[in-house]
Amino acid sequence: MTPFENFLKQHDEEAWAGTLTALLRSIHEVDRNATQIWFSFYPLALFEALQRAADPEKLAQQLLMQGKYRLRDQIDSSHTFLYGHRYWPEVKRETVAHARAFTGQSSLSDQILAVAQNAASQAKVDQSLVVGIAAVAFMTLLQVGLEAFEQAPGKVQIDRKHAHKSPDQVLRGRAKDDSQGVFGFLKTVNKKWTVTYDENDDTARYRLNHVQDLAWGAAEDRSKNWREIDPRRVEGPIPVECRSASCGTCWVGVLGGAEKLSDVAAREGKKIKEFGYIETSEAKPLIRLACQAQAYGAVSIVIPPWNGVFGKYLKGQKQ
Ligand code: FES
Repeated sequence: MTPFENFLKQHDEEAWAGTLTALLRSIHEVDRNATQIWFSFYPLALFEALQRAADPEKLAQQLLMQGKYRLRDQIDSSHTFLYGHRYWPEVKRETVAHARAFTGQSSLSDQILAVAQNAASQAKVDQSLVVGIAAVAFMTLLQVGLEAFEQAPGKVQIDRKHAHKSPDQVLRGRAKDDSQGVFGFLKTVNKKWTVTYDENDDTARYRLNHVQDLAWGAAEDRSKNWREIDPRRVEGPIPVECRSASCGTCWVGVLGGAEKLSDVAAREGKKIKEFGYIETSEAKPLIRLACQAQAYGAVSIVIPPWNGVFGKYLKGQKQ
């Protein structure tokens, strides 16, 4: 293991959470939610538990994990929903250079900022646009190892049209409420809202009725063969099983419009902690169960490529 990997390993989940909080003010608004969502999608504590396990596959089964949960299978692609993804080649290159020349003289957040600064000057963009993706690069390197990280092609995975959008364009388009027609303001029950589930694909959206939960609306989207794309997607783009906050299959990140979803009710709040997805008592957090969160306006979400039930297990490990 290289000195840089050793340095990263010395930081536990709490240290990473502190680092992320310290970095948030340096991250452009377009990536503030996305970066926090990404860190919820790939939790360090779960990665470490699997790494420690004598039989990781058996533990993954025990934790009912399904889908692509390993970062090593998606080094270049786990972060396409971050605006900073379009600068991944520069960020990845600078992260590797930093790891190779590591001297260990500054804090984790200062090192992430230093890599972001170099990558931003290479890409000729504002540093705030690459701080989030630089933090993602560090965590990815920690979970996959420097060698695998370095060997990944480091290519941008989104098309040119979307890659050329400005941060303002993305922010303006994100969760923009649908017009309800000339007399829309008179409508109460018949309102319809758009849910965008991939900002880099203009077809990745479906409509739902006012106050319908996110999973209900998704089930009516038959635009693709969802099962073929991901076997967890039995109907529509969002994987669902129970529709009653019991299985944890339907978790999503909310990039834009979290304030337009219903408050987290007692059952959702309790179960989402048991599943292990987020530890918060906020009424409108960035991670939700799609079968519980009802829409009062347009929202932009991200669907993680895996799910599991590991909250209780990880708590038990800490004690
Ligand atoms: S579908 Fe099971 S928790 Fe939402």
